Amino acid sequence: HDLQRANTLGLPCVAERFIAAETPSTLAAALETARRQAWPLTVLGGGSNLILPRRLEGLVVQPTFAGWHHHHDAGGRIRLRAEAGMNWHTLVMESVTRGWWGVENLALIPGHCGAAPIQNIGAYGVELAEVLESVELLHLASGRQQTLSAAACQFGYRDSIFKGELAGRAVITALTLTLSEAPRPRLAYGDLASRVGAEPTPLEVAEAVSAIRREKLPDPAQLGNAGSFFKNPLVSAEQARRLLEQAPDMPHFAQPDGRVKLAAGWLIDRCGLKGMRRGAFGVHERQALVLVHHGGGDAEGLLAFAEEVAAAVEARFGVMLSREPRLAR
Ligand code: EPU
Repeated sequence: HDLQRANTLGLPCVAERFIAAETPSTLAAALETARRQAWPLTVLGGGSNLILPRRLEGLVVQPTFAGWHHHHDAGGRIRLRAEAGMNWHTLVMESVTRGWWGVENLALIPGHCGAAPIQNIGAYGVELAEVLESVELLHLASGRQQTLSAAACQFGYRDSIFKGELAGRAVITALTLTLSEAPRPRLAYGDLASRVGAEPTPLEVAEAVSAIRREKLPDPAQLGNAGSFFKNPLVSAEQARRLLEQAPDMPHFAQPDGRVKLAAGWLIDRCGLKGMRRGAFGVHERQALVLVHHGGGDAEGLLAFAEEVAAAVEARFGVMLSREPRLAR
């Protein structure tokens, strides 16, 4: 089964076997078969945060069930449950057009709901963790169902239990979010506040966020990419201070734990790499944190290119960048 169109980087990949699971029970049956046959299993969501190798052995399964429902509870809160295969941006639009607050800053993030908790998607000052109530999953080894509270998901910056202890061990089947009818705009990031009115609706905020994203981030339908290719690095206060002596205009964000978060895009940009192209791969010309695939490359070529970018940043600033999209094997 050809997966080149199923990953937003457009990397060539052939899966030995592929099942699109249209219901939770089809998914459970596919997992059971993989277990019996001892096939390696890869779970595919929207394919927008994934680096696929040329060949995947075993079974690739993609949950495509995408139902959702909500109920209001006392206190103006809305519980929204969405199944894994629902498109994330569709969920955002269903919410903001009803006037519900909570996910408006996360508009236009590509991918399926089931993948959102894995990297704790975040943008414009909001992370999924802040609105997530619980995650439903199936354990691969046993087929057992479980519901994890948000607290049990060990969320961090672009991190969760699904990248740690549960990596390769569970499939997310649904999420429940808690949204609010009471206005709670989050406009502190960048120039977001200047792009909306004084008392914006969640729809207005989502539209402003979408406009910013369209200006900076390439559309995967036109140019292969997986969004940010590196995480923004955390450095010690001491290292940040030294770097700021060298470059006083460096963006830096103090963290609650005393460390300082730097902007990987700025570091790459400062190395003069924005817009740089090497064969099939390049650094996006409007956002240096995004690596792009012009066509004709593969995972190996992309990883080598990324290595080169990271090495330039390390040589210039002494800061190590770590990869954001996950590598399937
Ligand atoms: N910057 C540059 N040059 C660049 C890119 C950025 O100088 O080429 C500077 C910007 O001017 C700004 C700072 O770096 O001062 C941060 O840039 P930006 O606001 O564009 O955000 P980011 O830190 O590069 C992160 C997320 C994005 C998210 C945006 C907005 C990560 C790894 N990336 O990017 O998430 O949309 O903030 O919140 O945390 C993703 O994860 O795929 C993603 C796109």
